[in-house]
Amino acid sequence: MRISLLSLAFLTGPVLAQVPLPQPPFMPPNASSGAVPSSSGGVPNAQWSTLLGNLLYFYEAQRSGKLPSTNRVPWRNDSAVNDGSDVHLDLSGGYYDAGDYIKCTFPLSFTVMSICWGATDFGKGYDLANQTPYLDDMLRWSLDWLMKAHPSNDTLFVQIGDTDLDNAYWGGDQNIPEPRPSYQINNTSPGTDAAAGVSAAFSACSNLYSNRLFSSNYSGPATLQNSTYAAELLQHAQTLYSFAVSASQTEYQNSVPVAGDAYASSGYGDELTLAALFLAWATNSSSLYQDAENYYTKFGLGGYDGVFNWDSKTPGIPVLFAQIAQANPGFGGGNISTWQSQAENYFDGIVNGSGSGYMTRGGLLYYTGDSDEASVNPSLNAAMLLTRYAQIASSQNKKSSYLNYAKSQVDYVLGKNPMSAPYIVGSNPNSPANPHSAMASGGNDTNNINTSPMQEAYVLYGAIVGGPDQYDRFFDIRGDWPETEVALDYNAPMLTLAAMHALNDSSDPFFTSLQPGAYSQKQPQGFPCDAAYSQGCGGPRLSKGGEIAMAVIIGVVGLTIFSLIGWLFLLSFQDGKMG
Ligand SMILES: *[C@@H]1O[C@H](CO)[C@@H](O)[C@H](O)[C@H]1NC(C)=O
Ligand SMILES: *[C@@H]1O[C@H](CO)[C@@H](O)[C@H](O)[C@H]1NC(C)=O
Ligand SMILES: *[C@@H]1O[C@H](CO)[C@@H](O)[C@H](O)[C@H]1NC(C)=O
Ligand SMILES: *[C@@H]1O[C@H](CO)[C@@H](O)[C@H](O)[C@H]1NC(C)=O
Ligand SMILES: *[C@@H]1O[C@H](CO)[C@@H](O)[C@H](O)[C@H]1NC(C)=O
Ligand SMILES: *[C@@H]1O[C@H](CO)[C@@H](O)[C@H](O)[C@H]1NC(C)=O
Ligand SMILES: *[C@@H]1O[C@H](CO)[C@@H](O)[C@H](O)[C@H]1NC(C)=O
Ligand SMILES: *[C@@H]1O[C@H](CO)[C@@H](O)[C@H](O)[C@H]1NC(C)=O
Ligand SMILES: *[C@@H]1O[C@H](CO)[C@@H](O)[C@H](O)[C@H]1NC(C)=O
Ligand SMILES: *[C@@H]1O[C@H](CO)[C@@H](O)[C@H](O)[C@H]1NC(C)=O
Ligand SMILES: *[C@@H]1O[C@H](CO)[C@@H](O)[C@H](O)[C@H]1NC(C)=O
Repeated sequence: MRISLLSLAFLTGPVLAQVPLPQPPFMPPNASSGAVPSSSGGVPNAQWSTLLGNLLYFYEAQRSGKLPSTNRVPWRNDSAVNDGSDVHLDLSGGYYDAGDYIKCTFPLSFTVMSICWGATDFGKGYDLANQTPYLDDMLRWSLDWLMKAHPSNDTLFVQIGDTDLDNAYWGGDQNIPEPRPSYQINNTSPGTDAAAGVSAAFSACSNLYSNRLFSSNYSGPATLQNSTYAAELLQHAQTLYSFAVSASQTEYQNSVPVAGDAYASSGYGDELTLAALFLAWATNSSSLYQDAENYYTKFGLGGYDGVFNWDSKTPGIPVLFAQIAQANPGFGGGNISTWQSQAENYFDGIVNGSGSGYMTRGGLLYYTGDSDEASVNPSLNAAMLLTRYAQIASSQNKKSSYLNYAKSQVDYVLGKNPMSAPYIVGSNPNSPANPHSAMASGGNDTNNINTSPMQEAYVLYGAIVGGPDQYDRFFDIRGDWPETEVALDYNAPMLTLAAMHALNDSSDPFFTSLQPGAYSQKQPQGFPCDAAYSQGCGGPRLSKGGEIAMAVIIGVVGLTIFSLIGWLFLLSFQDGKMG
């Protein structure tokens, strides 16, 4: 047998966390402990610490590749260890994106950027909760893979695994369908957003690993400083930024159409701006700061009032500008007020209801369209940005109104809602019991994913699910991916919020007041699309990854077929997911 570099990498196994992991390891407690209010009144509050631990544990359950000996998730196995073999590279490792088994670089880079930024601002919350070693472990599992996915200056792998093949599979981690092709962007087939997005993630994390805090309005970075690692990350950030800027500019799905099935990017101006800005901060470069200002104007990013998410990073940009301008008066003439007013226009629009979102009757910030799938994601991302920005708001009044609003959204997501359901798995007896996760379900019958098996085989602790519909209803049905799917990016804002609460909040997360049975008394009967007032809900429900592909088919083939698919769907939905 020929021993290739690839199999050597496999034999030696992956690098482990550098910050020593606790012995014994932190393990998520039984959900019933989330119904017991804490007795002491100090910080860190034990329930917030546990929540932060659970949120990180979710990522461990999503790992791909050969698992380290420190793996805490007893029901996970080594998987997809040959990723990259089609291009003679080791692209094993990293994370499965959602309830399925593809690996997607663009949303992963957003997730990692978001977590590193949060761990820079409210990082001492991770320390207090004793979760910094797991933060380090989670980040390195992401960043080490992203470095492998960037094997040369102008090559970046943006997806591993075929979306359609993957969507047709429902089962455990031992029979993941192959082949799993590796898709790249490069100089001849570029992708400005993907290259800049990953650059921003590397810079944001380099800042964290070099212990670079913004200002005394923040707690400062989690204690995981490592200047060697920070320098390695910065190198990748710089070459990716150069690649994004110097190759011809386009959305990455124009070069890799399959990546557009699940994660088509709507533009690259936001990623370029953010990448320049994080890099300016990492390298103390006023000319990069200037580049970022120029992009902001050139791409017309001012005045945007939509969501913040994996695709749309614009609302975070004035916040980061303000943080950097405050921390380094040498940049932009020290004019923080310009960025404060940009940021405050956006946040005031959310808080006073004049933005493009509205409040559901139950109190969830909702954006028609964007919130129709994974409704808690826009809300949590807004809460996370509000909490960060509040620390440098222009007045104490604004500061408290932003923090209050953020708290209302966090409370909603953690159970203060018409369903009495905390939208996080395994944290309370009323938590969702049927997350849309092929891996955790234990089933392999594509035609009966709701009922086979009746009970989800494994508890996917710490996973934020999609969330309720616009009427605040949550059905807890495994096949209903818009409400019950899990994903790397869904957890990201909650980590930052939980770290902030660990730092500063002596009272419990809302769910400790919810006793067993609270949700089941309110759980709606039937299926989301049965209800008379849910118009336009009759389309097919694949998983997160299949949706756009299906939307395209519908557009092309037309209304007749749509009705037929809709009808087939209604039949099949009674039993589960459409293959
Ligand atoms: C810092 O990170 C580098 C690169 O991952 C690693 O080799 C080294 O052991 C780390 N140092 C410490 C003190 O953890
Ligand atoms: C959690 O604890 C409850 C009550 O003690 C028990 O009924 C249940 O089986 C436990 N669940 C798990 C997943 O261990
Ligand atoms: C990659 O980029 C780095 C930094 O910009 C540069 O020093 C190096 O020469 C580049 N490598 C190649 C092969 O172009
Ligand atoms: C991991 O392997 C074990 C033993 O074969 C199996 O019971 C378990 O379901 C597998 N896990 C997943 C997520 O498929
Ligand atoms: C560049 O990327 C395109 C699109 O993924 C791919 O078809 C092509 O083979 C790549 N070029 C090289 C030299 O690998
Ligand atoms: C950043 O650069 C400015 C000059 O633009 C300099 O005054 C300052 O000391 C530098 N900061 C650091 C941390 O190097
Ligand atoms: C900051 O920018 C704003 C808006 O461009 C301007 O009105 C204000 O005068 C500037 N302040 C300083 C100190 O330059
Ligand atoms: C709401 O916020 C926007 C943006 O700052 C502002 O223009 C508007 O006057 C505010 N409306 C109210 C009622 O406060
Ligand atoms: C930020 O910190 C400064 C210095 O401690 C303080 O004066 C200011 O009020 C803080 N800003 C907010 C919004 O709390
Ligand atoms: C599905 O699971 C059942 C029960 O665990 C098993 O007997 C069967 O072989 C599996 N089928 C496939 C296609 O994996
Ligand atoms: C912690 O609470 C104090 C007082 O309520 C507030 O000023 C500060 O901004 C809070 N810190 C965070 C990180 O929210």
